[in-house]
Amino acid sequence: MTHRVAACYSIADLRELARRRLPRAVFDFYDGGAEDERTLAGNSLAFERWHLAPRVLVDVAGASTGCNLLGAPAGMPAAIAPTGAAGFGCRGADLALARAAAKMGIAYTLSSSATTSIETIAEKAPGRLWFQAYVLRNQDFFWQLIERARRAEYEALVITVDLPVGGKRERDFRNHFSIPFRFTPRNMLDFASRPRWAIDMLLRGMPVMENLRGLEAAATNATAIASSVGRSYDPSFDWARLAEVRERWPRKLIVKGVSRGDDARRLAMMGVDAIVVSNHGGRQLDGAIPSLLALPEVLQGVAGRLPVLVDGGVRRGADIAKALALGAQGVLLGRATLFGAVAAGDAGAQRALDILHDELLRTMRLCGAPTVTQLSGDLLRPSDPNASWSAYAAAPPAARSASPRAHRTPDLVNP
Ligand SMILES: Cc1cc2nc3c(=O)[nH]c(=O)nc-3n(C[C@H](O)[C@H](O)[C@H](O)COP(=O)(O)O)c2cc1C
Repeated sequence: MTHRVAACYSIADLRELARRRLPRAVFDFYDGGAEDERTLAGNSLAFERWHLAPRVLVDVAGASTGCNLLGAPAGMPAAIAPTGAAGFGCRGADLALARAAAKMGIAYTLSSSATTSIETIAEKAPGRLWFQAYVLRNQDFFWQLIERARRAEYEALVITVDLPVGGKRERDFRNHFSIPFRFTPRNMLDFASRPRWAIDMLLRGMPVMENLRGLEAAATNATAIASSVGRSYDPSFDWARLAEVRERWPRKLIVKGVSRGDDARRLAMMGVDAIVVSNHGGRQLDGAIPSLLALPEVLQGVAGRLPVLVDGGVRRGADIAKALALGAQGVLLGRATLFGAVAAGDAGAQRALDILHDELLRTMRLCGAPTVTQLSGDLLRPSDPNASWSAYAAAPPAARSASPRAHRTPDLVNP
């Protein structure tokens, strides 16, 4: 582990390392959310709604984060969320995340728009693997992806349903970050400001969204493939088509991007195996309810018929503890581990998981909860809602320091 990674003690430190290593446009693509980024901010602030009321005088000497997640053992109650285009930040970031997950004994979710193929991940990072499929207009291609995941023995299929169209991510517009890349004086200067990143991309080329090769006949290079993604989502995907997926996919089916109790209830009735309460990390519908606040309604909707996971804003072990105390079976880790991987590849991904594991174990011990199942609702007390929500309401809109110059709305990758 490099000295710089070893000097990171929190996910915030890893985020800062990523910010210093990457061109601004690339960092903002990972860090940013849609429009005024209120849902992005709200996801994190929602954790402040709850305080922990620790139990004392409990023997926590043998405490462990080991648990059962979706019917199989896990080193901690978490899995890595799908994050597309990770390789644009650091070559091999998908593999780094998958290897770190395997080492921690948790599942890794490969995104449709990852820069590593379904087969390479299965070969080089065997462990609990889930494949996230975006629903594509090209249905043959969509089913081929799913078939590849089946053949490569992925344990679960994750269907993301909060993206009938891409969200409006204004940092990307202001930074002139678009795919295909349009080289403008602003982004050339930006890329040049991070010579190590730029030289690697110049010498070895931009990574390709490996799983989408062949999606369009003309898409033969990195930028052409990436640009085809946004246009390829199928906004007509509905309940009937999801039922078809359920029928054809024989293993675990996870639906990601649910925020309502009625949707959750219907999903439980149709036989999906798990739900992820998620708003895509605030990258889609700005103003959407923060995930942690949607969790109770979703739990009520499923009424114990299936496990519910939650993601969005998890940056500390205590956040994981609170999500479990509210009734989630586990969390998905999005930017928390992504920042580590794009800051420092394998070492960074591993460091992010080690930090979260250490914090969760420490929180469990400090709360008098030696096992994950003892992270129950009686540990929670509501904080003063006015205090935290007035801060949320006053949260400043997305940084506007980048050029406000009019810029044609680009085709964004939109993972
Ligand atoms: C850069 C980036 C790329 C993402 N790509 C995908 C994706 O390809 N598929 C998907 O279902 N979700 C994607 N997401 C959403 C994550 O899976 C997850 O829901 C979100 O990051 C959770 O919020 P958090 O980052 O605040 O933890 C992406 C998120 C980020 C930040």
